[in-house]
Amino acid sequence: MNQALFSYIDACPTPYQAVNHTAELLRKAGYRPLCESEAWRLERGCGYYVTRNGSSLIAFRLPEADFSGFLMAAAHCDSPCFKLKEHAELAGNGYVQLSTERYGGMLCASWMDRPLSIAGRVLVRTERGVESRLCDLKEPAAVIPNVAIHMNRKANDGMAYNAAVDLLPLYSLGGEPGALRARIAESVGVPDFLAADLFVYNPQRGVMWNDLISAPRLDDLQCAFGALTAFLQAGPGGGLPVYCLFDNEEVGSQTKQGAASTFLRDVLERICAVCGRSAEEFRQAVANSFLVSCDNAHAVHPNHPEYADKNQMVRMNGGVVLKHNANQRYTTDAVSAAIFRTVCREAGVPVQEFANRADMAGGSTLGNIANTQVSLNTVDIGLAQLAMHSAWETAGAEDTAYLVRALTAFYQSSLRMERDGIYRLT
Ligand code: CO
Repeated sequence: MNQALFSYIDACPTPYQAVNHTAELLRKAGYRPLCESEAWRLERGCGYYVTRNGSSLIAFRLPEADFSGFLMAAAHCDSPCFKLKEHAELAGNGYVQLSTERYGGMLCASWMDRPLSIAGRVLVRTERGVESRLCDLKEPAAVIPNVAIHMNRKANDGMAYNAAVDLLPLYSLGGEPGALRARIAESVGVPDFLAADLFVYNPQRGVMWNDLISAPRLDDLQCAFGALTAFLQAGPGGGLPVYCLFDNEEVGSQTKQGAASTFLRDVLERICAVCGRSAEEFRQAVANSFLVSCDNAHAVHPNHPEYADKNQMVRMNGGVVLKHNANQRYTTDAVSAAIFRTVCREAGVPVQEFANRADMAGGSTLGNIANTQVSLNTVDIGLAQLAMHSAWETAGAEDTAYLVRALTAFYQSSLRMERDGIYRLT
């Protein structure tokens, strides 16, 4: 399971590769592509997927039998990294450096002194118009060097990183700016390109050690992979199974393809419309639906246990983590916690609880944002990890399998709201 996870992470350096690779896995499993700009024809018993912007994806299966609602799991496919600016190549002092901006809130120190690569998408001119192509250099192509301790004796007393000064990746010695652009163009088979979204990422493959795993992008590709595996292997349940992979969670989700967009609602409405259901029946289906918003959670830190809430000591290899927040930045409430705990209990998956220390703000994730577009019972869960937003994160070796087991049971369940507050769950 962990080797398969590492292969997935390797194949997904940016959301563009993540969506393309996930689509490939879905196609291999018999899923058919749909296009948002074309009419949909859906057959019972068949699986489909649709992408938006090449960086978000929604897959679903139309059951043979009638379905009461949507059983959905969502994860995000973006991670903190550095985005190359236009005219990224800076020449000076015998070096070519890369002009970048931070994407998301990374732990800067973890990005120093390690081999980095470059990937993303490139827009090229074709005879018919404009086409998006994937680019991944895969091999090491940049490094962000630390200043030697001899030149900064205070380097270990708390560093403040200036993104415009301290974090510029080094690309090469000497040479003219333009060499990277030519290399990118060549990698997509053109002499030059129109535009690109390119990111500096960590290409290191994950490793298992003792009872732990370490890899880049565990937040949130561990959940993306676990939910996909469950979605693909689950047998029929009472609902229509949906798998969502969203871009832009790390920058607030407010993009045309992010969790705050209309993407999910558009897809669910279209499924109902194509199946001949009325707007009234669509709303009934939504009321009978459930969303599991999956994004990694913080394990107790070995050196700093004081950052964990006293009675919520989240452990790696301790199973699925339910995330709670009084201000509802996590959507979990008593109803969704009760329903999801029941599913986990029956699947034999241990459940732990996470809440921030009451004096810490903490993060937010997909669930509450997706609920602004399509509002339904939602639970926020994750897997325990250390060093979230580091270039090299650490998690439990057993937990991916727990997530797969829990979500497989979830997809095979049947949920119906008999009245507000009374739920039939089998
Ligand atoms: Co995340």
